[in-house]
Amino acid sequence: MSLLSDDLETIEYQNPSQRRERQLNPHRFHKPKVDKRTARARLQGTPEGRPQVAGLQLSKGLDATSTEKAYLLEQLSLFYDAKPKIITSVLRRVKGGKEANVYCCAAGPALPGPYVAAKVYRPRLLRNLRNDSQYREGRAVLNANGEVLDLRHDWRLKKAIEQKSRKGLATTQASWIAYEFQTMLKLHQAGADVPVPIRNSEHAILMEYFGDLSRAAPTLNLVSISTAEARPLFERLVENIKLMLGQHVIHGDLSAYNVLYWNGQIKIIDLPQIVDPRTNPSARQIFYRDVERICDYFARYGIRSHARGLARELWESYQQTSKPEPDLGEASEG
Ligand SMILES: Nc1ncnc2c1ncn2[C@@H]1O[C@H](COP(=O)(O)OP(=O)(O)OP(=O)(O)O)[C@@H](O)[C@H]1O
Ligand SMILES: [Mg+2]
Repeated sequence: MSLLSDDLETIEYQNPSQRRERQLNPHRFHKPKVDKRTARARLQGTPEGRPQVAGLQLSKGLDATSTEKAYLLEQLSLFYDAKPKIITSVLRRVKGGKEANVYCCAAGPALPGPYVAAKVYRPRLLRNLRNDSQYREGRAVLNANGEVLDLRHDWRLKKAIEQKSRKGLATTQASWIAYEFQTMLKLHQAGADVPVPIRNSEHAILMEYFGDLSRAAPTLNLVSISTAEARPLFERLVENIKLMLGQHVIHGDLSAYNVLYWNGQIKIIDLPQIVDPRTNPSARQIFYRDVERICDYFARYGIRSHARGLARELWESYQQTSKPEPDLGEASEG
Protein backbone atom coordinates (compact mmCIF):
# COMPACT_ATOMS: atom_id res chain seq x y z
CA MET A 1 0.00 0.00 0.00
CA SER A 2 1.49 3.28 -0.94
CA LEU A 3 0.75 6.79 0.18
CA LEU A 4 1.46 9.47 -2.38
CA SER A 5 4.37 11.62 -1.28
CA ASP A 6 2.24 14.71 -1.62
CA ASP A 7 -0.18 13.35 0.95
CA LEU A 8 2.53 13.51 3.56
CA GLU A 9 2.54 17.24 3.42
CA THR A 10 -1.13 17.30 4.19
CA ILE A 11 -0.97 15.13 7.30
CA GLU A 12 -2.22 17.09 10.28
CA TYR A 13 -1.59 16.29 13.91
CA GLN A 14 -4.23 18.24 15.74
CA ASN A 15 -7.54 16.94 16.90
CA PRO A 16 -9.92 17.10 13.91
CA SER A 17 -12.43 19.13 15.97
CA GLN A 18 -9.81 21.87 16.47
CA ARG A 19 -9.07 22.33 12.80
CA ARG A 20 -9.31 25.76 11.31
CA GLU A 21 -11.30 26.27 8.15
CA ARG A 22 -8.86 25.99 5.22
CA GLN A 23 -8.73 28.56 2.46
CA LEU A 24 -8.91 26.60 -0.76
CA ASN A 25 -6.94 27.75 -3.73
CA PRO A 26 -9.22 27.11 -6.71
CA HIS A 27 -6.19 26.83 -9.01
CA ARG A 28 -4.69 23.93 -7.12
CA PHE A 29 -5.74 20.37 -7.04
CA HIS A 30 -7.12 19.95 -3.54
CA LYS A 31 -6.91 16.84 -1.44
CA PRO A 32 -8.60 16.54 1.94
CA LYS A 33 -6.30 16.28 4.93
CA VAL A 34 -6.03 13.03 6.78
CA ASP A 35 -5.34 12.72 10.46
CA LYS A 36 -2.15 11.18 11.71
CA ARG A 37 -3.64 7.87 12.82
CA THR A 38 -5.33 7.23 9.48
CA ALA A 39 -2.15 8.12 7.61
CA ARG A 40 -0.08 5.79 9.71
CA ALA A 41 -2.63 3.00 9.41
CA ARG A 42 -2.72 3.41 5.65
CA LEU A 43 1.02 3.16 5.43
CA GLN A 44 1.18 0.10 7.58
CA GLY A 45 -1.67 -1.51 5.72
CA THR A 46 -3.44 -2.43 8.93
CA PRO A 47 -6.85 -0.90 9.61
CA GLU A 48 -6.10 -0.16 13.26
CA GLY A 49 -2.56 0.93 12.62
CA ARG A 50 -1.07 -2.04 14.48
CA PRO A 51 2.73 -2.10 14.32
CA GLN A 52 4.22 -4.08 11.47
CA VAL A 53 5.64 -7.44 12.43
CA ALA A 54 7.80 -7.85 9.35
CA GLY A 55 9.32 -5.41 6.94
CA LEU A 56 11.92 -2.71 6.96
CA GLN A 57 12.86 -1.92 10.56
CA LEU A 58 13.32 1.64 11.73
CA SER A 59 15.73 1.79 14.63
CA LYS A 60 14.44 3.21 17.91
CA GLY A 61 17.39 5.57 17.91
CA LEU A 62 16.26 7.12 14.64
CA ASP A 63 14.64 10.06 16.42
CA ALA A 64 12.23 10.81 13.59
CA THR A 65 8.68 12.11 13.54
CA SER A 66 5.95 9.70 12.51
CA THR A 67 5.61 11.58 9.21
CA GLU A 68 9.31 11.07 8.50
CA LYS A 69 9.07 7.39 9.48
CA ALA A 70 6.08 6.90 7.21
CA TYR A 71 7.93 8.51 4.32
CA LEU A 72 10.99 6.35 4.97
CA LEU A 73 8.93 3.18 4.94
CA GLU A 74 7.35 4.26 1.69
CA GLN A 75 10.61 5.18 0.00
CA LEU A 76 12.94 2.49 1.29
CA SER A 77 10.79 -0.63 1.67
CA LEU A 78 11.47 -1.70 -1.93
CA PHE A 79 15.16 -2.02 -1.05
CA TYR A 80 14.19 -4.24 1.86
CA ASP A 81 11.84 -6.30 -0.31
CA ALA A 82 14.51 -6.86 -2.98
CA LYS A 83 16.02 -10.32 -3.19
CA PRO A 84 18.61 -10.42 -1.76
CA LYS A 85 17.81 -7.57 0.61
CA ILE A 86 19.82 -4.43 0.01
CA ILE A 87 19.08 -2.89 3.38
CA THR A 88 17.59 -4.48 6.48
CA SER A 89 16.99 -1.47 8.72
CA VAL A 90 17.38 2.27 8.97
CA LEU A 91 19.73 2.98 11.85
CA ARG A 92 19.98 6.74 12.12
CA ARG A 93 19.74 10.03 10.32
CA VAL A 94 23.18 11.26 9.36
CA LYS A 95 22.14 14.69 8.25
CA GLY A 96 19.19 16.68 7.08
CA GLY A 97 20.18 18.73 4.06
CA LYS A 98 18.23 21.32 2.11
CA GLU A 99 17.09 18.83 -0.53
CA ALA A 100 17.34 15.50 1.18
CA ASN A 101 18.00 13.60 4.39
CA VAL A 102 20.83 11.10 4.49
CA TYR A 103 20.44 7.97 6.65
CA CYS A 104 22.80 5.24 7.75
CA CYS A 105 21.19 1.86 7.04
CA ALA A 106 22.22 -1.69 7.88
CA ALA A 107 23.33 -3.39 4.66
CA GLY A 108 21.82 -6.60 3.35
CA PRO A 109 23.92 -9.79 3.33
CA ALA A 110 25.04 -9.51 -0.30
CA LEU A 111 26.76 -6.16 0.18
CA PRO A 112 30.42 -5.90 1.11
CA GLY A 113 30.22 -3.44 4.02
CA PRO A 114 28.00 -3.31 7.13
CA TYR A 115 26.32 0.00 6.22
CA VAL A 116 24.71 1.76 3.30
CA ALA A 117 23.95 5.48 2.96
CA ALA A 118 20.41 6.30 1.83
CA LYS A 119 19.87 9.78 0.46
CA VAL A 120 16.12 10.32 0.59
CA TYR A 121 14.91 13.41 -1.24
CA ARG A 122 12.14 15.54 0.17
CA PRO A 123 8.73 15.06 -1.46
CA ARG A 124 8.73 18.56 -2.90
CA LEU A 125 12.40 19.22 -3.29
CA LEU A 126 12.08 21.46 -6.30
CA ARG A 127 10.35 24.09 -4.19
CA ASN A 128 13.47 24.24 -2.06
CA LEU A 129 15.92 24.46 -4.92
CA ARG A 130 17.23 27.91 -5.51
CA ASN A 131 18.37 29.05 -8.94
CA ASP A 132 18.41 25.48 -10.17
CA SER A 133 17.24 26.39 -13.66
CA GLN A 134 20.78 27.54 -14.51
CA TYR A 135 21.96 23.98 -13.91
CA ARG A 136 19.12 22.29 -15.73
CA GLU A 137 19.64 24.34 -18.86
CA GLY A 138 20.85 22.14 -21.68
CA ARG A 139 20.18 18.88 -19.82
CA ALA A 140 18.01 16.14 -21.27
CA VAL A 141 15.12 14.97 -19.12
CA LEU A 142 15.76 11.55 -17.59
CA ASN A 143 13.38 9.02 -16.12
CA ALA A 144 14.23 7.18 -12.88
CA ASN A 145 16.07 4.52 -14.92
CA GLY A 146 18.35 7.18 -16.34
CA GLU A 147 16.88 6.96 -19.85
CA VAL A 148 16.50 10.15 -21.89
CA LEU A 149 12.82 10.96 -22.33
CA ASP A 150 12.18 11.70 -25.96
CA LEU A 151 9.76 14.61 -25.67
CA ARG A 152 9.46 14.90 -29.46
CA HIS A 153 6.79 12.23 -29.21
CA ASP A 154 5.22 13.29 -25.95
CA TRP A 155 4.02 16.85 -26.31
CA ARG A 156 1.75 16.50 -23.29
CA LEU A 157 4.67 15.81 -21.01
CA LYS A 158 6.74 18.50 -22.69
CA LYS A 159 3.99 21.03 -22.01
CA ALA A 160 3.57 19.78 -18.44
CA ILE A 161 7.29 20.35 -17.80
CA GLU A 162 7.23 23.80 -19.37
CA GLN A 163 4.14 24.81 -17.44
CA LYS A 164 5.46 23.26 -14.22
CA SER A 165 2.23 21.39 -13.65
CA ARG A 166 2.02 18.73 -10.95
CA LYS A 167 3.06 16.05 -13.42
CA GLY A 168 5.74 18.30 -14.93
CA LEU A 169 7.29 19.03 -11.55
CA ALA A 170 7.27 15.34 -10.63
CA THR A 171 9.08 14.57 -13.91
CA THR A 172 11.66 17.32 -13.37
CA GLN A 173 12.23 16.15 -9.82
CA ALA A 174 12.70 12.51 -10.84
CA SER A 175 15.13 13.68 -13.52
CA TRP A 176 17.11 15.73 -10.98
CA ILE A 177 17.55 12.67 -8.76
CA ALA A 178 18.32 10.38 -11.71
CA TYR A 179 21.18 12.71 -12.69
CA GLU A 180 22.78 12.24 -9.30
CA PHE A 181 22.65 8.44 -9.52
CA GLN A 182 23.64 8.17 -13.19
CA THR A 183 26.54 10.60 -12.67
CA MET A 184 27.76 8.63 -9.68
CA LEU A 185 27.66 5.46 -11.80
CA LYS A 186 29.55 7.08 -14.66
CA LEU A 187 32.17 8.69 -12.43
CA HIS A 188 32.67 5.59 -10.33
CA GLN A 189 33.27 3.56 -13.49
CA ALA A 190 35.73 6.19 -14.68
CA GLY A 191 37.67 5.89 -11.42
CA ALA A 192 36.64 9.12 -9.65
CA ASP A 193 36.50 9.40 -5.87
CA VAL A 194 32.74 9.21 -5.43
CA PRO A 195 30.69 6.82 -3.28
CA VAL A 196 29.90 3.53 -5.01
CA PRO A 197 26.29 3.87 -6.20
CA ILE A 198 24.14 0.89 -5.24
CA ARG A 199 20.52 1.41 -6.30
CA ASN A 200 18.05 4.22 -6.87
CA SER A 201 14.33 4.81 -6.92
CA GLU A 202 12.25 7.83 -7.80
CA HIS A 203 13.06 9.61 -4.52
CA ALA A 204 16.05 7.83 -3.04
CA ILE A 205 19.63 6.85 -3.77
CA LEU A 206 21.54 4.11 -1.99
CA MET A 207 25.30 4.39 -2.00
CA GLU A 208 28.45 3.36 -0.21
CA TYR A 209 28.53 4.73 3.34
CA PHE A 210 31.57 6.45 4.78
CA GLY A 211 31.94 6.48 8.52
CA ASP A 212 31.05 4.10 11.31
CA LEU A 213 27.93 3.50 13.34
CA SER A 214 28.52 6.36 15.74
CA ARG A 215 29.73 8.94 13.23
CA ALA A 216 29.42 9.53 9.52
CA ALA A 217 32.43 10.87 7.68
CA PRO A 218 32.68 14.62 8.19
CA THR A 219 32.83 17.01 5.27
CA LEU A 220 36.18 18.71 4.62
CA ASN A 221 35.01 22.02 6.06
CA LEU A 222 34.54 20.33 9.46
CA VAL A 223 37.95 18.71 9.80
CA SER A 224 41.37 20.02 10.47
CA ILE A 225 43.88 18.27 8.26
CA SER A 226 47.63 18.38 8.72
CA THR A 227 49.67 20.63 6.46
CA ALA A 228 51.49 17.56 5.14
CA GLU A 229 48.18 16.00 4.13
CA ALA A 230 46.85 19.12 2.47
CA ARG A 231 49.03 19.09 -0.68
CA PRO A 232 48.23 15.46 -1.74
CA LEU A 233 44.53 15.95 -0.98
CA PHE A 234 44.45 19.14 -3.04
CA GLU A 235 46.18 17.41 -5.95
CA ARG A 236 43.78 14.49 -5.68
CA LEU A 237 40.82 16.83 -5.89
CA VAL A 238 42.25 18.61 -8.91
CA GLU A 239 42.80 15.20 -10.57
CA ASN A 240 39.15 14.40 -9.86
CA ILE A 241 37.97 17.71 -11.31
CA LYS A 242 39.99 16.97 -14.45
CA LEU A 243 38.74 13.40 -14.69
CA MET A 244 35.15 14.57 -14.28
CA LEU A 245 35.57 17.20 -16.95
CA GLY A 246 36.93 14.52 -19.27
CA GLN A 247 33.61 12.72 -18.69
CA HIS A 248 31.76 15.97 -19.57
CA VAL A 249 30.79 16.48 -15.95
CA ILE A 250 31.10 19.70 -13.94
CA HIS A 251 30.04 19.25 -10.33
CA GLY A 252 28.34 22.63 -10.10
CA ASP A 253 28.35 22.88 -6.30
CA LEU A 254 31.84 21.77 -5.46
CA SER A 255 33.27 23.03 -2.19
CA ALA A 256 34.62 21.67 1.09
CA TYR A 257 30.97 21.15 2.10
CA ASN A 258 30.49 18.49 -0.56
CA VAL A 259 33.68 16.51 -0.02
CA LEU A 260 33.74 13.79 2.64
CA TYR A 261 36.95 13.05 4.49
CA TRP A 262 37.42 9.57 5.90
CA ASN A 263 40.58 7.59 6.75
CA GLY A 264 42.73 10.14 4.97
CA GLN A 265 40.70 9.85 1.77
CA ILE A 266 38.25 12.16 0.07
CA LYS A 267 34.94 11.38 -1.60
CA ILE A 268 33.00 13.86 -3.69
CA ILE A 269 29.26 13.85 -2.99
CA ASP A 270 26.05 15.71 -3.86
CA LEU A 271 25.85 15.52 -7.64
CA PRO A 272 22.26 16.22 -8.81
CA GLN A 273 23.06 19.66 -10.23
CA ILE A 274 25.90 18.51 -12.49
CA VAL A 275 26.41 20.51 -15.65
CA ASP A 276 27.42 19.27 -19.10
CA PRO A 277 30.08 21.61 -20.54
CA ARG A 278 28.92 20.75 -24.08
CA THR A 279 25.40 22.00 -23.64
CA ASN A 280 25.13 24.43 -20.73
CA PRO A 281 25.82 28.05 -21.71
CA SER A 282 26.99 28.91 -18.15
CA ALA A 283 29.30 25.88 -17.89
CA ARG A 284 32.58 27.80 -18.00
CA GLN A 285 31.54 30.19 -15.26
CA ILE A 286 30.22 27.34 -13.07
CA PHE A 287 33.44 25.39 -13.61
CA TYR A 288 35.63 28.34 -12.63
CA ARG A 289 33.61 28.81 -9.45
CA ASP A 290 34.05 25.13 -8.48
CA VAL A 291 37.82 25.35 -8.94
CA GLU A 292 38.05 28.64 -7.05
CA ARG A 293 36.17 27.30 -4.04
CA ILE A 294 38.49 24.32 -3.76
CA CYS A 295 41.58 26.54 -4.10
CA ASP A 296 40.19 28.93 -1.46
CA TYR A 297 39.71 26.08 0.98
CA PHE A 298 43.26 24.77 0.59
CA ALA A 299 44.74 28.26 0.79
CA ARG A 300 44.15 28.10 4.56
CA TYR A 301 46.69 25.24 4.66
CA GLY A 302 49.22 27.32 2.80
CA ILE A 303 48.59 25.77 -0.63
CA ARG A 304 49.14 28.62 -3.03
CA SER A 305 47.43 28.11 -6.34
CA HIS A 306 46.32 30.57 -8.91
CA ALA A 307 42.68 29.51 -9.03
CA ARG A 308 41.68 31.25 -12.24
CA GLY A 309 44.88 30.19 -13.97
CA LEU A 310 44.32 26.58 -12.92
CA ALA A 311 40.68 26.68 -14.05
CA ARG A 312 41.68 28.18 -17.40
CA GLU A 313 44.38 25.55 -17.93
CA LEU A 314 41.95 22.68 -17.21
CA TRP A 315 39.20 24.24 -19.30
CA GLU A 316 41.41 24.89 -22.32
CA SER A 317 42.88 21.42 -22.21
CA TYR A 318 39.33 20.02 -22.17
CA GLN A 319 38.27 22.28 -25.05
CA GLN A 320 41.04 20.85 -27.21
CA THR A 321 39.65 17.32 -26.92
CA SER A 322 36.83 16.12 -29.16
CA LYS A 323 33.35 16.56 -27.74
CA PRO A 324 30.41 14.98 -29.51
CA GLU A 325 27.08 16.57 -28.63
CA PRO A 326 24.78 14.42 -26.51
CA ASP A 327 21.24 13.59 -27.64
CA LEU A 328 18.87 15.74 -25.58
CA GLY A 329 15.71 14.08 -26.79
CA GLU A 330 14.84 17.42 -28.40
CA ALA A 331 13.96 19.19 -25.14
CA SER A 332 15.94 20.11 -22.11
CA GLU A 333 15.02 20.25 -18.43
CA GLY A 334 15.67 23.96 -18.19
N1 LIG B 1 27.89 8.34 1.26
C1 LIG B 1 27.82 9.00 2.40
N2 LIG B 1 28.36 8.49 3.54
C2 LIG B 1 28.27 9.17 4.71
N3 LIG B 1 27.67 10.36 4.86
C3 LIG B 1 27.12 10.92 3.76
C4 LIG B 1 27.17 10.28 2.49
N4 LIG B 1 26.54 11.07 1.58
C5 LIG B 1 26.14 12.17 2.26
N5 LIG B 1 26.49 12.10 3.57
C6 LIG B 1 26.20 13.10 4.62
O1 LIG B 1 24.97 13.72 4.32
C7 LIG B 1 25.15 15.13 4.13
C8 LIG B 1 24.21 15.64 3.06
O2 LIG B 1 24.50 15.03 1.81
P1 LIG B 1 24.37 15.82 0.43
O3 LIG B 1 25.32 16.97 0.45
O4 LIG B 1 24.50 14.82 -0.65
O5 LIG B 1 22.85 16.31 0.52
P2 LIG B 1 22.19 17.76 0.43
O6 LIG B 1 20.73 17.59 0.59
O7 LIG B 1 22.64 18.46 -0.78
O8 LIG B 1 22.76 18.44 1.70
P3 LIG B 1 23.34 19.91 1.88
O9 LIG B 1 22.18 20.82 1.78
O10 LIG B 1 23.93 19.84 3.28
O11 LIG B 1 24.37 20.11 0.80
C9 LIG B 1 26.62 15.30 3.80
O12 LIG B 1 27.09 16.56 4.17
C10 LIG B 1 27.24 14.20 4.64
O13 LIG B 1 27.37 14.65 5.98
MG1 LIG C 1 25.62 18.89 0.05
